[in-house]
Amino acid sequence: MAQNYHIVTYGCQMNLHESEKIAGILKKIGYENETTLEEADIVVFNTCCIRENAENHAFGNIGALKQLKRKKPDMIIAVGGCMTQEKGKTDVLKKKFPFIDVMFGALNIEELESLILRKRQQKKKIISIREEAGEIIENIQPVRTSYPNAWVNITYGCNNFCSYCIVPYVRGRERSRKPENIINEVKSLIAEGYKEITLLGQNVNSYGADGSTGMDFAQLLDAVASIEGKFRLRFMTSHPKDFTEDVVAVMEKHRKICRLVHLPVQSGSNSILQAMNRRYTREKYLSEIELLKTRLPEAEVTTDIIVGFPGETEEDYLQTEDLVKRVDFASAFTFVYSPRQGTKAAAMDNQIDEATQKQRIMRLVELVNLLTRQKSEKYVGKTVEILCEDFDEKKGMYMGRDEFGRMGYFHSEKDCIGNFVLLRIIKANGISLYGEMV
Ligand code: SAH
Ligand code: SF4
Ligand code: F3S
Repeated sequence: MAQNYHIVTYGCQMNLHESEKIAGILKKIGYENETTLEEADIVVFNTCCIRENAENHAFGNIGALKQLKRKKPDMIIAVGGCMTQEKGKTDVLKKKFPFIDVMFGALNIEELESLILRKRQQKKKIISIREEAGEIIENIQPVRTSYPNAWVNITYGCNNFCSYCIVPYVRGRERSRKPENIINEVKSLIAEGYKEITLLGQNVNSYGADGSTGMDFAQLLDAVASIEGKFRLRFMTSHPKDFTEDVVAVMEKHRKICRLVHLPVQSGSNSILQAMNRRYTREKYLSEIELLKTRLPEAEVTTDIIVGFPGETEEDYLQTEDLVKRVDFASAFTFVYSPRQGTKAAAMDNQIDEATQKQRIMRLVELVNLLTRQKSEKYVGKTVEILCEDFDEKKGMYMGRDEFGRMGYFHSEKDCIGNFVLLRIIKANGISLYGEMV
């Protein structure tokens, strides 16, 4: 009888794509259908540890499986991803959740196949974590779940060691994929009918910085954008310390590259940026925005911001607000600083109290929402091109996104998923747009 699988994913786009690879591995060894958790023969948790609440979320969901595992003792429970990769975390998980069958890390997902096969033969739990990243594995066939969008890794890991961030510790040093592997993957995705490609890396701008690829990011972007066919091309994340004019020039050259850059600023205060080890100043950041908007006036920028970093004063916080207003971001992901064990910032002796953090995040969210709403309203009356992604059952409408990532809803008689459609926007509601096909 066919076996079923269920994957629970936490964290970033990169992890979502990693889960698609995990699904590919599961299919290969006989788990054919993705089902609900209750019906699954194997459940895989692909975890994240970027902030404490990401971990708590996973802890809660894993803990909730205790009863089900008792009822279905043959069900395999596997936990992997960034959290298991943290020092000492597998011991914590083992103690808290003795019913976990398999633990693997973010750096050895290719091993999952053999770990599960072994587990099927033995009762004992299996824990296998790799300390250092190995060679890039190219032969995992992902089961993609986000048609017409597809994610394509260009780098793995990170060398930046921003003082608050755990990623370099759990994802290892930066490795770049060979250009021919990236280009061939994109070519076959386009041939299969995918319409939007997102190139993924923690810092895409340092692609090939170790000299292993014969190409830098701008050259790679140019090569990928030169692939024939109608598709949209995105890339994330850009790092302000490495974002260069030649990337803007490649964007100018190819209309298929979306005029949207995700450029996390983290803070608007120079002293905080320095303590964060971001290696750029507020002035440099603003000059990059100006460069982008001068050369591509329609360009939009999205960002990530942390409030409540150790030592952040009210003045520092106000500098962030000021920068947000100046840049007028299309949208911003805002986070309260969360100390991560082993990082430099977690050991700083000037941590900010929770009440101040809460108060600042509330003010910032309000500002960001206001700017986003104002931007949405400017859409009303305009005609935009939407790539239709899905049918929203609740609304009874199709939904898609414009090149700036704005969600647009509309009615259609025929199935539009995977098509580019032109919408005249008649209403804006928060971050969502409503339109009519023209
Ligand atoms: N590589 C990307 C993003 C990585 S994580 C970059 O350099 O920007 C995504 C976002 O999570 C970060 O941009 C940051 O805003 C946030 N983040 C990372 N560590 C955090 C921490 N310890 N507390 C709160 N937010 C954090
Ligand atoms: Fe973390 Fe900084 Fe690397 Fe981004 S660039 S993953 S924030 S260390
Ligand atoms: Fe991503 Fe979370 Fe890991 S943000 S890289 S899944 S720690």
